[in-house]
Amino acid sequence: MEKTVISGVELELSPSTEFPARWLGQEIVKRELLAAWLIIDKEDIPLNPRLVGPPGIGKTTLAYAVAKELGKEVWFYQATMDTRPEDLIVTPVIEEGNKIKYVASPIVTAMIKGGVVIIDEGNRMSEKAWASLAPLLDHRRYVESQIAGITIKAHPEFRLAVTMNEDTSTYDVPEFILSRLRPVIELTFPSEDEEREILRYHVPIAPEKLIDAVVKFLQKAHQNEYPYTVRGGIQILRYCLKLSKLKGTDPLLEFPQAVLSVLGDEAYRLL
Ligand SMILES: Nc1ncnc2c1ncn2[C@@H]1O[C@H](COP(=O)(O)OP(=O)(O)O)[C@@H](O)[C@H]1O
Ligand SMILES: [Mg+2]
Repeated sequence: MEKTVISGVELELSPSTEFPARWLGQEIVKRELLAAWLIIDKEDIPLNPRLVGPPGIGKTTLAYAVAKELGKEVWFYQATMDTRPEDLIVTPVIEEGNKIKYVASPIVTAMIKGGVVIIDEGNRMSEKAWASLAPLLDHRRYVESQIAGITIKAHPEFRLAVTMNEDTSTYDVPEFILSRLRPVIELTFPSEDEEREILRYHVPIAPEKLIDAVVKFLQKAHQNEYPYTVRGGIQILRYCLKLSKLKGTDPLLEFPQAVLSVLGDEAYRLL
């Protein structure tokens, strides 16, 4: 494990995350994110964009893929209802011989290394947890660890993005935090051609006629304001192929069943 020393306190750093991800089509939201992270002058600081939209529309993928295109190392912090303020900064861990070691969170590790942190599903954590990040999110760009008794400043290359799902099972993030998480980048459904390209990229073994059926279904869903996204589309494709493999049938024949099993009755009725 990599370590560093800040104000005489040794911190163990968190591992970054690596997985293949590409952002296809939808250049506008990509440019919005690139602009938010850009520094245009030596007095300038980056903004902390908030990516919003329904589950499965591509928020996490956008943040990760753009960070990677910029050549950055990426850390994730998955926000939950149980996230405590210190989880976001530095946590103490008892080692052998009752010694305490201090572990830097993914956020603090990215701050130290000049990487990107994606705080995923940010509206799942409480106001109390968010409050510990307030100084990081404005011009001060630091956090304080009560537990280790140190202040940690962000590297100039540090960048942050927060994703938030539009659903009800979440906390209302307080206004003093929302006011620091701007601009708001709202992801919208891809066009028909973009959707086809995304599905083809993720499930290259799917036959074209099956991809067409899924694209047609998703476009109809978007027009009728159903919340189905490419995540569901990818699952339908994969499930069709699995069913057809197992049963020795044409995958297109399994399409209605796959829609029903993956997305449920309402989706099935849309067919
Ligand atoms: N524009 C896009 N380019 C490539 N993949 C995409 C795109 N939009 C969505 N996806 C894919 O859709 C799935 C869901 O995306 P994800 O980022 O997990 O959504 P969210 O974070 O909004 O819930 C992933 O497999 C992702 O790679
Ligand atoms: Mg996500």
